[in-house]
Amino acid sequence: SRQWRGVIREYADRLDVTDATPIVTLGEGGTPLLPAPALSRRTGADVWVKFEGMNPTGSFKDRGMTMAVTKAVEGGAEVVICASTGNTSASAAAYATHAGIKAAVLVPEGKIAMGKLSQAIAHDAQLIQIQGNFDDCLDIARDLAENYPVHLVNSVNNDRIEGQKTAAFEVVEVLGDAPDLHFIPVGNAGNYTAYTRGYREDIAAGNATRLPRMFGFQAAGSAPLVRGEPVRNPETIASAIRIGNPASWHLALEARDLTDGYFGAIEDDKILEAQRILSAEVGIFVEPASAISVAGLLERAEAGQVPAGAKVVLTVTGHGLKDPQWALRRPDGSEVAPTVVPADVAHVAEVLGLGA
Ligand code: F0G
Repeated sequence: SRQWRGVIREYADRLDVTDATPIVTLGEGGTPLLPAPALSRRTGADVWVKFEGMNPTGSFKDRGMTMAVTKAVEGGAEVVICASTGNTSASAAAYATHAGIKAAVLVPEGKIAMGKLSQAIAHDAQLIQIQGNFDDCLDIARDLAENYPVHLVNSVNNDRIEGQKTAAFEVVEVLGDAPDLHFIPVGNAGNYTAYTRGYREDIAAGNATRLPRMFGFQAAGSAPLVRGEPVRNPETIASAIRIGNPASWHLALEARDLTDGYFGAIEDDKILEAQRILSAEVGIFVEPASAISVAGLLERAEAGQVPAGAKVVLTVTGHGLKDPQWALRRPDGSEVAPTVVPADVAHVAEVLGLGA
């Protein structure tokens, strides 16, 4: 038995590193790919879930951040900067501090989940709330990186995409080939781009025989790729993907065309319904943005786009504990209040319906 060494060491021959590269890792990657019988029953497909919430900071961003911060340190950077809806900032903060450098993170004021805000502060980042949305934050971060000695670690940095492509390698290793269909949330479309690259490289390496159709989903109030134009004031409860002008727009269109893929939009109530299905029927708790993969699968199955028996992989990108409040709301918006009883067996047995 041995310890998983993080994605750079595990896939060193497939990434731009040398023996001299100062690898910055927190042991990311190697996440579970889990069968989801409840989703297979609902769709007639063979559905698997890649649970990226199991990464060290609780999201898939760690795969890209190990690579981006490693290359930043290799190049002599002392400060990394990013714009973020929360997960990138949590990850950048953790990897920068592990490397002994500084992280500056720009987030939209009041629009990121409490767990993610806490992570950036816990890992000692310089956190600045911007009175604007994510797209404003990214514009400022790009400008700063062009004009000041700060190294940009958003997914416009190709090192991020390189690190994130390793998730596709892991899927192929477990399934023995690429799946038929792959469902994934889309914000900046960096991860959509990264999986497509990973699968393509696996075909070139002889590890896979096919390219999955890549199905990407945006929240309906924040769906520029579906509408075909930027959304000026994106809105959704899935704060991680509240993005109106995706950074990887052109790469994403290329990836979609190459894979005979698809971009769809999902309403917030369907996202929350899917989150509940995944947590209550499969046992996997994800944040709302991640549940859009499940919602997208159910919607496409309904539309007759998911062939019976098809091998399907859903990437769920971030852990439910990042933004747990949504689990405590019913579909009608009311709060779920746990039952309170006196501290004796009889009362508990009665509430549990265990008989007299
Ligand atoms: N899911 C989660 C949980 C995310 O945090 C993000 C992006 C995405 C999906 C979309 O990935 O941008 O590659 O298409 N979060 C970024 C952030 C924007 O700042 O944490 P993408």
